[in-house]
Amino acid sequence: MLKFVCVLVALVTFCATLNLPPSFKKCKLRSGAFDQCLSTAIQDAIQQLKKPLPEYGLPSIEPFEAPKEVFLEYGNETTGIRQKYFKIKIGGFTKIEKTSARFNLERKILFLNITFSELLFSSGYEARGRFILYPIDVSTTVAMKIIKPTFKVVFNLEEYEKENTKYFRALDSFLDIVLDGMTYDFKNIFQEEVLNKEFNRGMNGKWQNIVGFLQATFPKFWITLFEQTFNNLLERVPASDLFVGL
Ligand SMILES: *[C@@H]1O[C@H](CO)[C@@H](O)[C@H](O)[C@H]1NC(C)=O
Ligand SMILES: *[C@@H]1O[C@H](CO)[C@@H](O)[C@H](O)[C@H]1NC(C)=O
Repeated sequence: MLKFVCVLVALVTFCATLNLPPSFKKCKLRSGAFDQCLSTAIQDAIQQLKKPLPEYGLPSIEPFEAPKEVFLEYGNETTGIRQKYFKIKIGGFTKIEKTSARFNLERKILFLNITFSELLFSSGYEARGRFILYPIDVSTTVAMKIIKPTFKVVFNLEEYEKENTKYFRALDSFLDIVLDGMTYDFKNIFQEEVLNKEFNRGMNGKWQNIVGFLQATFPKFWITLFEQTFNNLLERVPASDLFVGL
């Protein structure tokens, strides 16, 4: 019952102090294998988020649904597009190949490299502009497969006190995405199927160029969401319960 009330309260404000979920592994600071333990703990915790943990403010991340839209603009008069991605969903965040974590205790910085097998991105898509002089003005859907991306995340943790208990909050977080490859399927950009195929072929052939401009925008978008989600956990669980021996 108490837990239920807590969930209700958590929806409105934030809840009283909680312990780390019992299914989350804890690691002992200053022990030889701390970073290794933390890598396993974080990977396990992310994989558990196939189901939400509402009392910790953690959503289900399979798939991860973005509450915001993303605007991207690139190009020139000949080939230039203004795009809007909305109703964004990403599948695959719980299919992790490798996690490597390092915690700098002195500077309170958490470094994370996480490699996913593949991420499936789908969204609504609106675009205006030109593709090799063909005008584009569409509202459609897009699917992208991002192959073996590594997310390099830096969380700067700040310590503060609340009711004589120490907590962390993450701020100025940073994300860089490195990937092996990418494929796209943009539906019905043109009325002629031949042009659609050509457009997708053109986009798929140039994934490195496209990644360049995606990388300028998407990481900023994702890191804001990751930081918010992580902070939901941090504001409920005291620092000493996150890292044993703090
Ligand atoms: C416009 O951009 C395309 C794609 O980046 C490029 O190939 C082309 O040379 C550019 N054209 C002009 C006139 O700058
Ligand atoms: C993440 O990868 C970079 C190399 O790309 C490396 O320099 C860094 O130490 C790695 N971080 C962790 C926490 O393993």
